[in-house]
Amino acid sequence: MLDVLVLISGSGSNLRALATAAAHEDYPARIVAVGSDGEASGLAHAEEFGIPSFVVDPGAFESRESWADELRAQIEAWNPDLIVCAGFMRILPAGFVRAFAPRIINLHPALLPRYPGAHAVRDALADGATVTGSTVHIVDEGVDTGPVLRQVEVAVASDDTEGTLHDKIKVIERPLLVATVAEIARGEINVKEYARA
Ligand code: GRF
Repeated sequence: MLDVLVLISGSGSNLRALATAAAHEDYPARIVAVGSDGEASGLAHAEEFGIPSFVVDPGAFESRESWADELRAQIEAWNPDLIVCAGFMRILPAGFVRAFAPRIINLHPALLPRYPGAHAVRDALADGATVTGSTVHIVDEGVDTGPVLRQVEVAVASDDTEGTLHDKIKVIERPLLVATVAEIARGEINVKEYARA
């Protein structure tokens, strides 16, 4: 059984999808805890599924590094095998990444390496992309630059807005995340292969 800790900042629909899958006894991973950088609405999913949660608010710390040190301590208390960033809208400092890499993955709403950053859906539309999608990748010290594990494409319609396109991406990225975490749990994806030499 793979012990997963999920980090969120927002509505947590991907957290919910993972928690729903993990509630089935044949799913090979379980969520040991959920962490957030604020009072995210998605924490309600953790409560509903009986998953412990914690908040580490950067506003309460003098520096990004001291915030990340506390986040790291909270995470280590759960001793997870894998950290899943599912809509966690903070850049993790290099020291934090080094402490857990390559056991941190991120879900990103674009086909990386295209459209990294916080406005991936908007950027794809502004660029006139006809195809975009979602990526699960290993988190490294850059912003959305780590090795890609799995991707799924989504067609962009001519009348798509940022909202409609993001909704379409979310529909495909929830099963993508659930499937990728299962592959990691079964050893079909070996994240240790991505350890830096
Ligand atoms: C997803 O689109 C994910 O790719 C991005 O943030 C969004 C999170 O959505 N990083 P939700 O909070 O899981 O609904």
